[in-house]
Amino acid sequence: MTTTGTPTAADLRVAVDALQSARRSTLALTDFDDAELTAQHSPLMSPLVWDLAHVGQQEEHWLLQVADPGRDPVFHPAVARLYDAFEHPRATRTRLPLLDARASRRALADVRARVLDALPGAHGLCVDTSAPALRRAARAHPRAAALGADAWRALPLADGCADLVTTVFAPRGEAEVARVLRPGGAWVVLTPLPAHLEQVRGALGMVAVEERKQERLAADLAGFAPAAQRELSLQRPLDRDALRDLVLMGPSAHHVDAAGLEERLAGLPPVVDVTVAVRLTAVTRPG
Ligand SMILES: C[S@@+](CC[C@H](N)C(=O)[O-])C[C@H]1O[C@@H](n2cnc3c(N)ncnc32)[C@H](O)[C@@H]1O
Repeated sequence: MTTTGTPTAADLRVAVDALQSARRSTLALTDFDDAELTAQHSPLMSPLVWDLAHVGQQEEHWLLQVADPGRDPVFHPAVARLYDAFEHPRATRTRLPLLDARASRRALADVRARVLDALPGAHGLCVDTSAPALRRAARAHPRAAALGADAWRALPLADGCADLVTTVFAPRGEAEVARVLRPGGAWVVLTPLPAHLEQVRGALGMVAVEERKQERLAADLAGFAPAAQRELSLQRPLDRDALRDLVLMGPSAHHVDAAGLEERLAGLPPVVDVTVAVRLTAVTRPG
């Protein structure tokens, strides 16, 4: 890896791989319950939860704020000071109002997302068949582009050019994903869980979450190496415009006509608290 001048794509890949590998170690070394993480095991050691957040605070300081001190921080200055190793001797750190493990892990993830976003040379491409989806994607980020193409057919990309492919409730086309991913590259697939949109599914005539979805996913991903799996569930207030978009961008679009959909939307309150329940499955392309 070169240390001066403009980093090449290979330099960036080395840096990203090193960051991600260090993160896997950090998370593995702090994979304990809250009691274990907050205990002072020895006056020579910090409670592990301090070290956990300290990793994120230092990453934000050195990789983001030194280059751009004006940017909005993940760690508010008052919180960042709690993780200043010079200010707080190890034996005193359990007495500080520290972030708990969950908040610490979230802060680490937020910092890392910003670090990856700040890397030069990374580009995102959205492939979709829908013009509104393409317009939205093209505006999402200065380094994002959008391309209209049917993901069931060939992806309009060169062999081995992508570090990461994400598939969000969309056709998978695993042979094409394997072709465009570099060896070791990751594929993250988002699939809905049964509780997904349960408050509006019936009222809007949306198709049910397909049974056997998990088996079909496992079959589609069989040629890849499993990396991680996580379920996410959160509530989001959605107004009628957002609900209309949701219906029209999914498979339910083929099952409802425009007038019928407007009637159904009018029958709902102006804003509905909707459950978003999804499974994230990450796999990598074998080298
Ligand atoms: C839930 S949206 C995801 C939108 C966006 N790509 C994202 O990641 O947030 C699913 C998208 O899949 C798109 N889609 C459905 N069939 C497709 C196909 N054969 N080729 C490409 N995109 C397709 C839909 O138009 C819709 O925008």
